[in-house]
Amino acid sequence: MSTDRWAEVRRRHANAEAGGGEERKQRQHQEGKLSARERIDLLLDEATFEEMDKLVRHRCTDFGMDQQVIDGDGFVTGYGRIHGRLVYVFAQDFTVFGGSLSEANALKICKIMDLALKNGAPVIGLNDSGGARIQEGVASLAGYAEIFLRNVLASGVIPQISAIMGPCAGGAVYSPALTDFVFMVEHTSHMFVTGPDVIKTVTHEDVTKEKLGGAETHNSISGVAHFNAHDDAECLRMIRELVTYIPQNNRDDAPLKASADPIERMDPSLDTLVPADSHLPYDIKDIIQRVVDDGEFLEIHEHWAKNIVVGFARMGGQSVGIVANQPAFLAGCLDINSSVKGGRFVRFCDAFNIPILTFEDVPGFLPGTDQEFGGIIRQGAKLLYAYSEATVPKITVITRKAYGGAYCVMGSKHLRTDVNFAYPMAEIAVMGAEGAVNIVYRRELAAAADKEAVRKQKTEEFRDRFANPFISAERGFIDDVIEPHETRPKVIRALRMLANKVDTMPRKKHGNIPL
Ligand code: HXC
Repeated sequence: MSTDRWAEVRRRHANAEAGGGEERKQRQHQEGKLSARERIDLLLDEATFEEMDKLVRHRCTDFGMDQQVIDGDGFVTGYGRIHGRLVYVFAQDFTVFGGSLSEANALKICKIMDLALKNGAPVIGLNDSGGARIQEGVASLAGYAEIFLRNVLASGVIPQISAIMGPCAGGAVYSPALTDFVFMVEHTSHMFVTGPDVIKTVTHEDVTKEKLGGAETHNSISGVAHFNAHDDAECLRMIRELVTYIPQNNRDDAPLKASADPIERMDPSLDTLVPADSHLPYDIKDIIQRVVDDGEFLEIHEHWAKNIVVGFARMGGQSVGIVANQPAFLAGCLDINSSVKGGRFVRFCDAFNIPILTFEDVPGFLPGTDQEFGGIIRQGAKLLYAYSEATVPKITVITRKAYGGAYCVMGSKHLRTDVNFAYPMAEIAVMGAEGAVNIVYRRELAAAADKEAVRKQKTEEFRDRFANPFISAERGFIDDVIEPHETRPKVIRALRMLANKVDTMPRKKHGNIPL
């Protein structure tokens, strides 16, 4: 009898491992996609995966479903290690009913999410799903809602990472959207709430699924995705790298990584990197790479809202979240998308105890009807809100321009930033000299015989008076004017000074960020 049981256990395990069968698995491979189990193997440290609920079965009896039962019901769930650290993982197997979500496998996901929350470790979801399992109706919808609830409860408590590795339609997109980071794979992954056929019926628009919801669209147009991978293997490698920068949970600190890069390293090339002519662009990433440990910078949202750069690096071994205006794109102006991108990243860092290092070179908010009609007032306020509520160590380096409202927003002293540095060529003022002269001296300019001479003289006066870091430094809004080559040691010393920082928000249920 007991031998029969053993055989039965093996049979059920084998049935779960076979998934939807060899033919469907081959189709998955032909499309350039790995199977759910192959993905988990690449994601986790070797031989660390412990599967749970492998023997769970769906309960649907309608539409002949009782004749089609696969152990595990197409979702592979469990826990394992990445670089030795615990993570929980689920992977949808597209070969089983198109990776669709049944009541039973929704409960599998909820089980590991509950464990992750109690044990304080990240959840990683590998999504490849046709959405709600159509044969199960509302039971499947209920399963989605249970997952969404857990995504929200876990938000800010444990990191949540989603990889989109196939079609993700309907409910399958909203759980990823609630998580902290979304990875997509070029050409094989798609996300949309309603697909091309529904769009055609309702709005008569013709759009391909690649254009509508491919990796490029969500990485560069919608901003729904944060990372773009060439294939499944690269996507899984990128997730392994991301987790090295973040803590296990909101009570933990990100892991330290020893580096041979000296803390006291000065970089003379920084002294000439910012052009003397403040109208000329430069690439802020050149500064970031010269300042951080070993030049390693993991950029997030690389292809979206390029006028702001965000990502993780390490300084003296410690993880930092970097937010930087990008003068090489739209002159580094803040606009709707860059405000949303920066704000969301600042909030992640704040939730997970990661200090925020800001490099500021911003001429102001982008003018235009598109921006005003799109709600730049409300959207820009998100970044302002995020910086203001952040209580993690905050350090700002003004590399050049810090004008107007954008000065206030980008980690100014007044928003509880702990240490504010400026380079000698910094320009900190309400607006650029030309704009200021046009307003302040409008009457004089109108009356002047030689308007251009007056304009030139007033502009120079204005620039000499305001376009420098000294007025701010005299008031203590800037703690020190530093020479660019000493940025790395100055920032690391400040970070270490702030290692035990405690700051709080007033007691409240939650704030009301302008969504
Ligand atoms: C059950 C499904 C399924 C689903 C796919 N399959 N989606 N089974 N429920 N939702 C099955 C197919 O019957 C097929 O089974 C296998 O999975 C592969 O599907 P194909 O269509 O052959 O694959 P492909 O051509 O690659 O197209 C993939 C797809 C398409 C784009 C995902 O299957 C599709 O459009 N599916 C429906 C998507 C959808 O509308 N889902 C419901 C969303 S509503 P066989 O046996 O032939 O291999 C929703 C509500 C939640 O999710 C809202 C919460 C906010």
